[in-house]
Amino acid sequence: MGGKFITLEGCDGSGKTTQVALLKDTLKSMNIPFIVTREPGGTAISEQVRKIILDKANKAMVWRTEALLYAACRAQLVGELIVPSLNEGIHVICDRYVDSTLAYQGYGRGLELEELQKINNYATGGLKPHLTILLDIDPELTLKRLNSKKADRLEGEKLQFHQRVREGYLKLARKEPERFAVIDASRNVEEIHREVLAKVLNVLNWAEK
Ligand code: TYD
Repeated sequence: MGGKFITLEGCDGSGKTTQVALLKDTLKSMNIPFIVTREPGGTAISEQVRKIILDKANKAMVWRTEALLYAACRAQLVGELIVPSLNEGIHVICDRYVDSTLAYQGYGRGLELEELQKINNYATGGLKPHLTILLDIDPELTLKRLNSKKADRLEGEKLQFHQRVREGYLKLARKEPERFAVIDASRNVEEIHREVLAKVLNVLNWAEK
């Protein structure tokens, strides 16, 4: 497996999408072979499942269903896109991955972490990122930003939920410090981008010119 697998994680409104876009532009200009994808989604089948998960009308969805649908989405993305790309030596940058399930469904919803690990090991065949960038920010700041946007079903959850998710992410990062890079996402976009880029280039063994 020649390519490196890099994931970005963070609470809703942590600026992850902006950072993924900036990273994409910079890596493109450096002629590095990579693809960018996202969860839930990233393939035609996974995008269909995404619609079901994030549909605000699906209020009756029980938490285990939600966790299984995220895992199903992930299985498709890993099998159809991520593993074949890595095998071809193409680096993969993924907006969210298993840590999202552990943080949101585990620490946020209170589902059993070990069970979530098991279904996700099954879904991914045990594929782990080489690097996970965690954009860490106080949810109180981010929720203010999100309120002005069209919120989906999950973004409408309460502040306490997001605080549990944030704490969960930080716990995951403490458990695997060699995989995680925790980045303070309360700073300006450019500063964060520089730090994200440095971590990514380090994993790709690419010296900045
Ligand atoms: P999305 O619109 O992609 O949010 P963002 O731009 O913040 O990534 O919606 C994804 C939502 O799904 C987000 O609230 C996090 C949640 N989620 C989980 O709860 N578990 C998961 O495993 C994943 C991948 C996402």
